[in-house]
Amino acid sequence: MAAQPESVHHVAAGLREQGYLPGESTALVAYLAARLGKPILVEGPAGVGKTELAKALAKYLGRELIRLQCYEGLDEAKALYEWNYRKQLLRIQTEADSTGWEDVQDDIFGPEFLLERPLMTAIASPEPVVLLIDEIDKTDQEFEAMLLEVLSDFQISIPELGRIESRSHPVVLLTSNNTRELTEALKRRCLYLWLDYPSLEHELEIVRMHAPDLPETVAAKLVEIIAMVRELDLKKPPSIAESIDWARALLLLGAQDIDEQTFRDTLSIIVKHRTDLDIVAERVGVKLGSPLAS
Ligand SMILES: Nc1ncnc2c1ncn2[C@@H]1O[C@H](COP(=O)(O)OP(=O)(O)OP(=O)(O)O)[C@@H](O)[C@H]1O
Ligand SMILES: [Mg+2]
Repeated sequence: MAAQPESVHHVAAGLREQGYLPGESTALVAYLAARLGKPILVEGPAGVGKTELAKALAKYLGRELIRLQCYEGLDEAKALYEWNYRKQLLRIQTEADSTGWEDVQDDIFGPEFLLERPLMTAIASPEPVVLLIDEIDKTDQEFEAMLLEVLSDFQISIPELGRIESRSHPVVLLTSNNTRELTEALKRRCLYLWLDYPSLEHELEIVRMHAPDLPETVAAKLVEIIAMVRELDLKKPPSIAESIDWARALLLLGAQDIDEQTFRDTLSIIVKHRTDLDIVAERVGVKLGSPLAS
């Protein structure tokens, strides 16, 4: 049995130690998931720390992270297991003609000829792991149904080999960017965590952690501007990832303030759509230019 977190407080402190600053409900949900053995469904806009949470949690729990990156058309062969046809063929070819099919069959459907994919690896692992099923909304509903089965029983049936049962219960995180509605059945089995853009103070702390040498006043102004930009009706509002990139860029450039010129020069780090650039330059750039804003 792997070490179980003792309290929500321990989880919060542990995640921080791994460089992840959890919001209020994040530590609570992570704690419950580890203790109750339930998967977490993490939803929220791009770049708010969904994937990073799984990585930090794995490090904190001292478990290996097994990641299944979802995409359109992902199937069982790539998610669960598949037979290594080439190796099976070679095996058959090297067999003497006199060997009967029965003997060969027993052999080529053994573990040696099985290619384990992430779901199978996570279930078969003797040590408990953290399983990250990233961007589940990119797959189709059939895949989701298969996943439901795996997540409710923590076992996989291979017709030729029999049942493989989970020896250690993995902590499972599923992430979604909300590109499609997930089924009720899946949601019912999961704890739910909605990660949104952080508050000013929280984001300031995250930025300071990733760019500790950036002057405090610049960092504070940066998160204020980012919050202002997110208020605009943009195609792609800047995420935490962009705030961090911007902080690092300003640090490299030795910026002591974010004045109108600096803002315009570095705008493309936080805004990445042609039309968004115009909107932001006009609405925010002008504010920075006026003496009121500084
Ligand atoms: N709470 C946090 N503490 C520390 N760093 C954070 C936090 N949230 C986000 N980050 C940083 O923000 C960046 C983006 O996070 P991540 O890649 O996990 O986003 P995501 O939600 O998975 O995005 P996407 O939906 O695009 O995959 C990472 O570099 C991560 O380190
Ligand atoms: Mg991600």
